[in-house]
Amino acid sequence: MASVQEHYARHLAPHYTWMAGGAAGPRQRFTDLCRQLGLRPSQPGATALDLGAGNGSQSIPLAAAGYRVTAVDLSPELLAELTRDAGDLPVTTVVGDLRDIAVHAPRPAPEVIVCMGDTLTHLATLDDVANVIRSASAALAPGGYLLLGFRDYTTERTGNDRFIPVRSDDERILTCFLEFGTTHVTVSDIVHARSGERWQMTVSHYQKVRISPSWILAQLRAAGFTVAHQTAENGLVTIAALLSPSP
Ligand SMILES: C[S@@+](CC[C@H](N)C(=O)[O-])C[C@H]1O[C@@H](n2cnc3c(N)ncnc32)[C@H](O)[C@@H]1O
Repeated sequence: MASVQEHYARHLAPHYTWMAGGAAGPRQRFTDLCRQLGLRPSQPGATALDLGAGNGSQSIPLAAAGYRVTAVDLSPELLAELTRDAGDLPVTTVVGDLRDIAVHAPRPAPEVIVCMGDTLTHLATLDDVANVIRSASAALAPGGYLLLGFRDYTTERTGNDRFIPVRSDDERILTCFLEFGTTHVTVSDIVHARSGERWQMTVSHYQKVRISPSWILAQLRAAGFTVAHQTAENGLVTIAALLSPSP
């Protein structure tokens, strides 16, 4: 079993942007979400922190909206794509562990912290997830937003439903295979890549933690957040939580 870091470094990173159907779609969807929430910097120099930033689906729109963004990820390959696409936008990339929020949080305190694109489930345990929510609460500026996006793995997939055709074209096919355990899901990413007349298969598997939306909502409330927005679409849950001002 690969660690998350190994899985991206040795297997998924070169396919990540292709797998998402290109970089533009996810960035536009996040821009639309920010507009819907009315998210904008309160003043010049306002900061944002992107946890598990990947190729910049959230960092680049946040920087384009005027935030100075710190983008943290374990994958130098994906952060290199982010840096290339960010051009002159104010994004600082950090190869590091998103759990170290107190270390990575920019100054002044971030007005927005995001952990989206199913990054939360990559953490090893529910304790890690709860700690991230608590640390985000401690690091955010008063009245700041925590935006979370994660897959709801509460309902177990069985039989043929465990095979997910993620994306394919003439040169590449990516299939995901899920095996459900009590607390975790083992995820196998199966890549078929054309090499001349032949197809070559490579596989890597790693674990995701099963998170239920109601559990996340309880953690948010306990950490001082109020939920301002919540959607669930095709199993992908998006939550915008507002840090209540201190009494
Ligand atoms: C599914 S991708 C999401 C990337 C991006 N947020 C998006 O929406 O496209 C998950 C990302 O989280 C990163 N990641 C997973 N665990 C991490 C950790 N503990 N610290 C930092 N990055 C992590 C992975 O390297 C990967 O880039």
